[in-house]
Amino acid sequence: MHGVTDLTLTSKNPERLSTDVLVVGVADEDGKPRIEGAQALSRTTRSSLERAITLLGVTGRAGEVTKIPAGGEVRADLLVLTGTGAPAPDDQVARERLRRAAGAALAELGGSTRVSIALPVADTGDLQAVAEGALLGCYRMANTRDAQPAALEIQFVASSSGKAARAALDRARTVAEAVHGTRDLVNLSPNVLYPESFAARARDLAKGTKVKVSVLDERALSDGGYGGLLGVGKGSARGPRLVRLEYRPSRTRRHVALVGKGITFDSGGLSLKPAKGMEAMKNDMAGAAAVLHTVLAVARLGLPIAVTGWLALAENMPSGSAQRPSDVITIRGGKTVEVLNTDAEGRLVMADALVAATEEGPDAVIDIATLTGAQMVALGNQVSAVMGNDDVREQVLSAADRAGEQFWPMPLPEELRASMNTPMADIANMGERYGGMLVAGLFLQEFVGETPWAHLDIAGPAFNDSSPRHYVPKGGTGVGVRTLVELLTAASA
Ligand code: BES
Ligand code: MN
Ligand code: ZN
Repeated sequence: MHGVTDLTLTSKNPERLSTDVLVVGVADEDGKPRIEGAQALSRTTRSSLERAITLLGVTGRAGEVTKIPAGGEVRADLLVLTGTGAPAPDDQVARERLRRAAGAALAELGGSTRVSIALPVADTGDLQAVAEGALLGCYRMANTRDAQPAALEIQFVASSSGKAARAALDRARTVAEAVHGTRDLVNLSPNVLYPESFAARARDLAKGTKVKVSVLDERALSDGGYGGLLGVGKGSARGPRLVRLEYRPSRTRRHVALVGKGITFDSGGLSLKPAKGMEAMKNDMAGAAAVLHTVLAVARLGLPIAVTGWLALAENMPSGSAQRPSDVITIRGGKTVEVLNTDAEGRLVMADALVAATEEGPDAVIDIATLTGAQMVALGNQVSAVMGNDDVREQVLSAADRAGEQFWPMPLPEELRASMNTPMADIANMGERYGGMLVAGLFLQEFVGETPWAHLDIAGPAFNDSSPRHYVPKGGTGVGVRTLVELLTAASA
């Protein structure tokens, strides 16, 4: 992980810690700021802090970060006050506030080496949330102008420092590394990350792990009848790939398949996007990146569950060899699709991968994709959608809640299916404009058969094109990874 090398625990009085930076929480209690865990501080420190807070106008609102030179009894050089907000209605919300408070503080530190975090952690779940937030907030884009080292050593103040607390930190690190890895892939330029180089990176990342990687190249795709990947990939000089990741621990009760959309650049194809709509389209592989890093994280955690990951990789470009609106293609397994709009390419590559995934008879398949602009119209940039044909939709929602990611359930109204009817093929890749996210979901449903299935549309949340917020940087966000790791953890229990 960029920068951070060491995570430690301490139950010492935060004032006594010899560290560069001490992070302390300030809660907003009915409009009055209150220093969290103030009992732990000496009277002099407490009163000088209270005075500073009043003079500075610190409110304790979520997202507020105030840096002040430490003084008095505090041994740290710098104090960072981070707002934890109003009292939370439930445990999960409280944890997410801690995660955000830690993330906001760390995101604002540059070049610090030792940081101690004294936020109110009641149990190991809280500790994990604080550690996740801190590590997620440390993310700096690799190989960019704003690359700067974040904290090198983070110490967490917690009452327990036993095995469970240690395990919470290790888990937080693994999860954060997976999110960082996903962000890195999303942030790569599309001239660097294309299907072949993505597959090569998957191979590299899996080296020395228990994840086996196999790659279908164009020849293998054509032999296997993967008409969706081939159709979308046809317009690009860089051919499509289907990557299969396999994690098979010795003890397993269940098998879950994950499928990710990996369009390394979505120009729209011949149904070309306008310039503005194309700007962020290097992010169209965020689902595949999340699948790759989820499988790697599950292996690192050694979860007793079989997981197969599928990365549907293609570049959607217009050219003399590109597929045309009105082409009819055949998806793996034999269903035909009339391509009415080449910009509805995600569902074509996903259809191939969903068929391949379900052929192996997993207990459930979960797909994740930056699939529709309609997702953003419906839910905005911070809430992802989940659809499905089974109880796995609810499992995704509850995992998301525990992981601190915002997902919302969406229906798959049968009556919209008819809008994709065409005399030319089994289905068209476009239908009714209203409810476009649901239409795309219904399209995918055609390719999962009876397999329990959930579909995650992360079009908006995958990429942050405005300013950084709490632990979310600008650019790739890594959305979905925490939810999927949490879901697989629960499913392996
Ligand atoms: N990759 C886009 C969806 C998208 C849009 C993701 C904005 C992130 C931000 C997808 O391939 C697409 O172009 N979908 C079309 C489908 C339409 C042509 C039926 C859309 O949503 O406009
Ligand atoms: Mn598109
Ligand atoms: Zn797309």
